[in-house]
Amino acid sequence: MGPKDQPKGHLEARKERILFSYIFMKLLEGRPRSYDRTMDKVSRGRVLEIKRSVAGKIPEGARVLEIGCGTGELASMVLTRASQVEGFDVSPKMVEAARRRIQEESLSGRFRVSLMGVDGMDGLAEASFDAVVSTLVLSELSPDERRFALGEAHRVLEPGGLVVIADEVRPRTAGRRALHAVTRAPMLALTYLVSSGQTHPIPDLAGEVRDAGFSVTGEERSHGDAFALVTGQKRAEVG
Ligand SMILES: C[S@@+](CC[C@H](N)C(=O)[O-])C[C@H]1O[C@@H](n2cnc3c(N)ncnc32)[C@H](O)[C@@H]1O
Repeated sequence: MGPKDQPKGHLEARKERILFSYIFMKLLEGRPRSYDRTMDKVSRGRVLEIKRSVAGKIPEGARVLEIGCGTGELASMVLTRASQVEGFDVSPKMVEAARRRIQEESLSGRFRVSLMGVDGMDGLAEASFDAVVSTLVLSELSPDERRFALGEAHRVLEPGGLVVIADEVRPRTAGRRALHAVTRAPMLALTYLVSSGQTHPIPDLAGEVRDAGFSVTGEERSHGDAFALVTGQKRAEVG
């Protein structure tokens, strides 16, 4: 039986298994050098595809803030359009890997990275960015941290600025949620055993972006409805 002949439920489950292999990321975060390579393999190129979509939404010449920049893979793509990226990450190993990328890809002066958690975002200057991006980070945060991070993203953007967030979300129907829970369970258990870490599908990412004050301009769902790319815009000042 070829892939085309397989029942739809089976294909959905397979897609979910591939996507949620990214839970492996929690395990790989301690090994940044192999992180991007492994992520690309286990997700069969989907993580790169998602990052390309995020990067493609960034206006030419934009000043961009990246929340949880990891090894700087997204920043490197964003810099094909943006003028500069300011990234931060709470993991010293990730920051080290991102700084190595800056050297290897000659991004010095255009990509700056700080060792910082989202709780440090209140130290960033108001209205100093044209776009804020983040992939696969918010699902690692608590609801309070997400609220804080999105509120700060809104504060540091210029009026009219963009937020582009891609992450794991909770599927909207009971059937898909059940499928998602089943396919995700073994990886969650393994992740917890190895790293004591967890990721949490975000119940309503678009709603949280809206609650932070943005106009939500798009929500692209994929991978069995369990992944979302949400775009929002800070309203331009009136008058
Ligand atoms: C799954 S990785 C994704 C990395 C990168 N954004 C990417 O898409 O390749 C999650 C990243 O979020 C970072 N992170 C987790 N909690 C954080 C926090 N509170 N503040 C900043 N970064 C955080 C981790 O260190 C890790 O680099």
